[in-house]
Amino acid sequence: MISSIVLIGAIASINGNQQAITQPENQNGNEHTTATRNKRSPNGHLKFPGANSANREERARGGGPFPVMTKSVSNCGAQQISFTPPQFDRTPRIRNGRCAPYGSIPWSVQIQILRNGVYVHHCGAAIIDDQHVLTATHCFGSGMDSSLMKVVVGQHDMAVREEKEMHFEIETVHRHNQYQSLGPYSHDIALVKIKRKGDGRAIRFSDKVSPICLPSPQDNIKDDHKCIISGWGKTEPHGSLQTECLRAANIPILNQATCKKMYNYSSQELLESMVCAGYQQGGVDACKGDSGGPLACKMDDGRYKLVGVVSWGHGCGKANNPGVFTRVTSFLDWINQKQSI
Ligand code: ARG
Repeated sequence: MISSIVLIGAIASINGNQQAITQPENQNGNEHTTATRNKRSPNGHLKFPGANSANREERARGGGPFPVMTKSVSNCGAQQISFTPPQFDRTPRIRNGRCAPYGSIPWSVQIQILRNGVYVHHCGAAIIDDQHVLTATHCFGSGMDSSLMKVVVGQHDMAVREEKEMHFEIETVHRHNQYQSLGPYSHDIALVKIKRKGDGRAIRFSDKVSPICLPSPQDNIKDDHKCIISGWGKTEPHGSLQTECLRAANIPILNQATCKKMYNYSSQELLESMVCAGYQQGGVDACKGDSGGPLACKMDDGRYKLVGVVSWGHGCGKANNPGVFTRVTSFLDWINQKQSI
């Protein structure tokens, strides 16, 4: 019974017409009403591989004090709601993504900013542990006050309060202090620490909300490896920001030398601390509003690693102008150091 509810939810959201109860924003940012709390399944009935262990873990946490996670998250990178984003197809949408089933990109984070009294979409990010999300420094430019921002996990449709949605205030933003030292988009990485709730709670992991693995220093992602980009950004370069769902697409890692040549006209040269992904012919790409979001690559053991952070590109999805991502392996020491502050 419960498994069918979950499955219907997933299928409906693929069709983009997810029906869920909209709940008003709660001032404290508390993520569950009693009604949704009761709906949370105490089950092991999900059909998705690996769902059982996470549910056991969630059950173990239920109600009691929330354990503080250690820095290294061992159960990272698991995708329990299966979803393979479409390969390149020819529909004339720049991002060319699809609505991902709720929870299928469990590490996805939305950073919102308060504008004219309403929180609106600002940037993407990825969960790396229960108190930290990794994003781009350019999301925190001058005049952008992080006290007016919040971090949302378990998000899908901005107009709907989702089952596992949690909202957090920001405690600290670690911007990279060499940001823009080697061009307008160099060192475009930031680590955001969220504020724990009054009861000590940080991000609660489940089958639909969980961290992505950081790569190890020797991880060398191969050209053409297909990776997932996801975000709430624009689907047309001049269109308005869409809000109805988290979109995702599959794109291949591009050869570094090829990409460097493609951008040799640009004011930002392609640095070793950047990685490109996309099709030479364009079509599928991250776009405005996707910044800070993850380039997530599935490794041989089936886990996803955070290979890149959406940073820049000329236009969106233009031929020979692929998406450029901050290369996470270039910043592992920095991340480690900031994560332990
Ligand atoms: N800088 C953009 C933002 O603020 C994202 C750029 C990514 N562009 C691209 N074509 N891949 O959202």
